Amino acid sequence: MKVLSVASEAVPLVKTGGLADVVGALPGALAPHGVEMTTLLPGYPSVLAALGGRRAKVLHTWDALLGTPARLLAGTLPDGHPLLVLDAPALYAREGAPYTDAAGIDWADNWQRFAALGKAAADIAGGAILKRGKPQGFDLVHAHDWQAAMAPAYLRYVPLGAARCRSVITIHNMAFQGWFAPEVFDRIELPQSAWALDGVEYHGGLGMLKAGLSSADAITTVSPTYAREIRSSAFGMGLEGLIVERGAAVHGILNGIDANVWNPASDTALAAPYSHRTLEKRRAGKRALEAEFGLDEGDGPIFIVVSRLTWQKGMDVLPEVLDHLVGSGGRLALLGSGDAALERALIDGAARYPGRIGIRIDYDEGLSHRMQAGGDAILIPSRFEPCGLTQLYGLAYGCVPVVARTGGLADTVIDANPAALAAGCATGIQFDGVNYDALAAAITRTVQLHAQPEIWERIQKNGMKSDFSWEASGKAYADLYATLTA
Ligand code: ADP
Ligand code: GLC
Repeated sequence: MKVLSVASEAVPLVKTGGLADVVGALPGALAPHGVEMTTLLPGYPSVLAALGGRRAKVLHTWDALLGTPARLLAGTLPDGHPLLVLDAPALYAREGAPYTDAAGIDWADNWQRFAALGKAAADIAGGAILKRGKPQGFDLVHAHDWQAAMAPAYLRYVPLGAARCRSVITIHNMAFQGWFAPEVFDRIELPQSAWALDGVEYHGGLGMLKAGLSSADAITTVSPTYAREIRSSAFGMGLEGLIVERGAAVHGILNGIDANVWNPASDTALAAPYSHRTLEKRRAGKRALEAEFGLDEGDGPIFIVVSRLTWQKGMDVLPEVLDHLVGSGGRLALLGSGDAALERALIDGAARYPGRIGIRIDYDEGLSHRMQAGGDAILIPSRFEPCGLTQLYGLAYGCVPVVARTGGLADTVIDANPAALAAGCATGIQFDGVNYDALAAAITRTVQLHAQPEIWERIQKNGMKSDFSWEASGKAYADLYATLTA
C-alpha cells in the first residue's frame, strides 16, 4: 500500500509542536504493517537546506500551481523514508515561522500557500510523477490539520488519474481551522459545485479544515477521548455538527512516541542516560537542571513545564499558583514561548522567587529532553488536549505527569487515587477543571506523594514501563487504510 502523508511540519526538518513529532514518526510506525509512506512538505528554507538545496532531483514541474511556478523535489527523511518537497519559492522561500512572519502575524497568503499544498498532493496522488513514462500514483492520501486539509477536497472535486485515491484527514487540533474570506475561492481552481454547505464553504468563507472533514473518506483524531469531546460544542469549536454527522467515519487513534528520539537510556541530549532499573542516576539530571535554571539545590520536587504559552495549555492559571507551589515546598523550571502577556506574567512571577522558579522563554529541543530527565513532575493544565505528547515523554522519563483530565491526557495517565495506588498501577496525577483550586490541590497531592519515596518511585517506574510506542497505533492506521482501500 502506498500512502502520501501531507503536512506542514515534520521532525527534524521543521517543528512548531506535536504535529511535527507525529508526522515524522508515522512512516516508521506504518512500515512494519506493509505501508510505504511518503511525506510531502512545503519547501521552507529549512526543508530545502536538509535536501541539499535546490539541486535535488526534480520529479515534476508546474508552470502555474494556483498561479505560481513550482517544482516537486525528491529526498529522504533522516530515517530513510521517502520525502517529497514542494519547491514554490513565491510561497515558501521566506524567513520567519511556517505560518507567521517574525512578528507572529499570519502570512496574508496562507490561503494560497496551503491550498497549493493540497492541490499538489492531489496532482501527485493522481499520477503527476512519471517513472519511465508511467504515472506513479498513491492508494491513499493522509492529510494532517487544516494546512493539508484541501488535499481531500481537490481529490473529491478535481479527481485526476484513473484510479480512485482514498483520503484520510487527521485532526491534531480543532482550534486551528484555516478560515479565509470568500474572495479566495475564485483563485483556488475548484469547480463552483465545491462552494456548498457539504463542501468547502464555511460561515460565508473558505473553511479549509471544514473542507477536509466533509471531503475525506475517513476522519481521525489523536485520542479516543478527544474523538468523543469534539462531538460537543465546547470542544468542536463550531464543527461539532459535522463531526456528529460523519460519526461512523470518525476514529480516535492515540499518538505514540518515537523511541529513537525519546528514550532516556539512549538520549544523546543527556549527560547521564538511565532506565527504570537505574533511577538513582536521575539525581545527576536533577542537579544539572538546578544549575541550568539557577534553582537552589534541594530534595523537594521540581515541577517542569515545557509548553506553548497559550490559553489552550492553561498557562494563564499558572502565574496564580506560583505562591502555592513555592509555599508547598516545590520549585519550578519552565521552558516555553507564545502569548506575550503570559510570558510577561511568568517572568514577573519568577522574579519574586529567585532560586525557586526559573523561566526560559525560548524554544530549545535539547533542553526539553534534559528537563524531562531532571524534573520530578511535569505540569500540564490544558483546557483541551487532542493527545498531548509531553505527558508521554514525562512517563517515559520518570517525570511524573500532573495533568488536567481531558483529551489524550485523560487517556494516557492513571491517576494516583487510593484504588490505583493499592493496585500498584498509578502513573501520575489527574485533576478536573483548569482553575486555581484544582491546580493548587493537584500540586499539594504531588508534593505529598513525592515525600513518600517508595510510592513515588513506584509511580515513576509504572510510567517508564508503560507502552506508548507506535506499535498499536501504527497497526490501527494500517487497518483503517486497508478498510478504505479494500
Ligand atoms: P502541542 O502540539 O499542542 O504544542 P504536544 O504536547 O503534542 O502539544 O507537543 C508539543 C511538542 O513541542 C513536544 O515535543 C514538546 O516537547 C515540544 N515543545 C513545546 N514547547 C517547547 C519549547 N519551548 N522548547 C522545546 N520543545 C517544546
Ligand atoms: C496538536 C495537539 C496536541 C497533539 C499534537 C500531535 O498540536 O494540540 O495535543 O499531541 O497535535 O497530534
